[in-house]
Amino acid sequence: MTEILEPNAQGLRSAAAILGRGGLVALPTETVYGLAGDATNDSAVAAIYQAKGRPSFNPLIVHVADASVAEGLVTVSPMAQRLADAFWPGPLTLVLPLRPDAGVSPLVTAGLSTLAVRVPEHPVAQGLLQVFGGGLAAPSANPSGRVSAVTADHVMTGLAGRIDAVLDGGPCRVGVESTIVGFDGDRAVILREGGVPAEALAEVLGHDPDRRKEAGAITAPGQLASHYAPGGAVRINATKAQPGEVFVGFGPMECDLNLSETGDLAEAAANLFRHFHQLDAEGAARIAVAPVPEQGLGRAINDRLRRAAAPRDS
Ligand code: TXA
Ligand code: MG
Repeated sequence: MTEILEPNAQGLRSAAAILGRGGLVALPTETVYGLAGDATNDSAVAAIYQAKGRPSFNPLIVHVADASVAEGLVTVSPMAQRLADAFWPGPLTLVLPLRPDAGVSPLVTAGLSTLAVRVPEHPVAQGLLQVFGGGLAAPSANPSGRVSAVTADHVMTGLAGRIDAVLDGGPCRVGVESTIVGFDGDRAVILREGGVPAEALAEVLGHDPDRRKEAGAITAPGQLASHYAPGGAVRINATKAQPGEVFVGFGPMECDLNLSETGDLAEAAANLFRHFHQLDAEGAARIAVAPVPEQGLGRAINDRLRRAAAPRDS
């Protein structure tokens, strides 16, 4: 049984109690819902992997209440500090050297010497982190490889019966995952495009960040791992639907569903996974998606679309 918790003081206390005894709670963040467990508890972290059906070599992000908690887990370089100052709380994850005394379960980092940390801005996530008091390991709250959840309903569709509770905080404002940034000497490297656009990072850094493939996500050119995928087949950069396809538009055009009629990229990001979940619910077998400009949040949207369209196993 998965309990649905209201985002009030009582719901937060119940959620913190479940987490304290090693249980799993899905929580809203401004990007997508996360599936949270106590980052210091090996069996809780193992349970996260199991509930998602996630291959255990893919490390998790630890969510903390503020930058001072992060400093207890990782070594924050001056460049990382500038990004944290500019974008925390918010949709930015920083990959930094793990402190030996951090106390984080080795299952969180999948054995890496770095840890991905993030300070979410969503008031319910903030509230839970404050009541709980420690770090929460939380991947997106969806079965591995499928579309991330941006409502409590989506979480239930994917994970009901496999986790203890969902804190219902309504729809997520940003709608795509956090931008993940790592560091290579004096260069910042984007490991995953997300809610903080590359252009905004460049402004704070004073240089264009490099782009590197996310650990484990893409192994060779042309081999995009299928990920963030709805049940139906996805065709991208489509100018119109072929017979039998549902057409997802962008900007003013004839279509079945529109990411944003006005061509607004923030609105499109917030609608992307919501539309995919709706198409899953309707059993859409073939989905065509109109082109989205490769700028700002469009980079994260196109990254998710390319992976949704990538060839799938079986
Ligand atoms: O917005 C988000 O980032 C959401 C919310 C819940 O915070 N979380 C999320 O987590 O998208 P997840 O687990 O679905 O994606 C985390 C990504 C993984 O692809 C993983 O490979 C990468 O972060 N990652 C985690 N730790 C890493 C590390 N130490 N080095 C490189 N990549 C890492
Ligand atoms: Mg995910």
